[in-house]
Amino acid sequence: MKIFLDTANLEEIRQGVALGVVDGVTTNPTLVAKENAPFRQHILDICGIVKNGVVNAEVVSTDFAGIMREAHEVASWHPNIVVKIPMIPDGVRALSALSKEGIRVNITLVFSAPQALLVAKAGAYFVSPFLGRLDDIGENGLVLLRDILEIYRVYNYPTQVLAASLRHPMHILEAAKMGSHIGTMPYKVFEQLFHHPLTDKGLETFLKDWGKAREVLGDIMAPAAAAPKAAR
Ligand code: G3P
Repeated sequence: MKIFLDTANLEEIRQGVALGVVDGVTTNPTLVAKENAPFRQHILDICGIVKNGVVNAEVVSTDFAGIMREAHEVASWHPNIVVKIPMIPDGVRALSALSKEGIRVNITLVFSAPQALLVAKAGAYFVSPFLGRLDDIGENGLVLLRDILEIYRVYNYPTQVLAASLRHPMHILEAAKMGSHIGTMPYKVFEQLFHHPLTDKGLETFLKDWGKAREVLGDIMAPAAAAPKAAR
């Protein structure tokens, strides 16, 4: 499963990318507004950090002509940009037109499987079901994710499922087990994936034991005599 960071914060993106397991970034108007920087330059700065991964940037118009105008503009900024468009009728109409032009579109704010079916038919590159926001209203976001993946498999739709609004590591685990193509998560959740109390406790013991036997073990970095050949 590809891992995207759901943030527009440059420092978080830098730190995540440095770890070598981030495949892309998703932003939305709320996340971008928090950064208080000119939109175009900010998205380009993100592209510069992510380099080989995709960067999702969202339009804010809600009528067909406006969405088309903004989508063309945003897509022209950098080849790695995927245009995010909300799941509204004019958004799907724009998606149909843009996908025929070869512009990659991520349809966002998806909360039902029928919505996901429509956007696959219209040629979406990504579909973004919001799991956490469904959980917030007492539904089960993972059920939606499973339904979408099943429909896409049955009909062989090439649209990639981008599980969004992921709030905790269990969301990531279940999305990965189901075969979601991508999971996008806030930096805080991404960090949680690295940790386990037994890893910390185990490492502490290893280092303590090494310290006790240090004089016998020697220094890993000490210059060695000729190294033995590696076993094949
Ligand atoms: O970026 C879209 C989505 O991931 C938002 O998540 O946590 O605001 O519901 P959240």
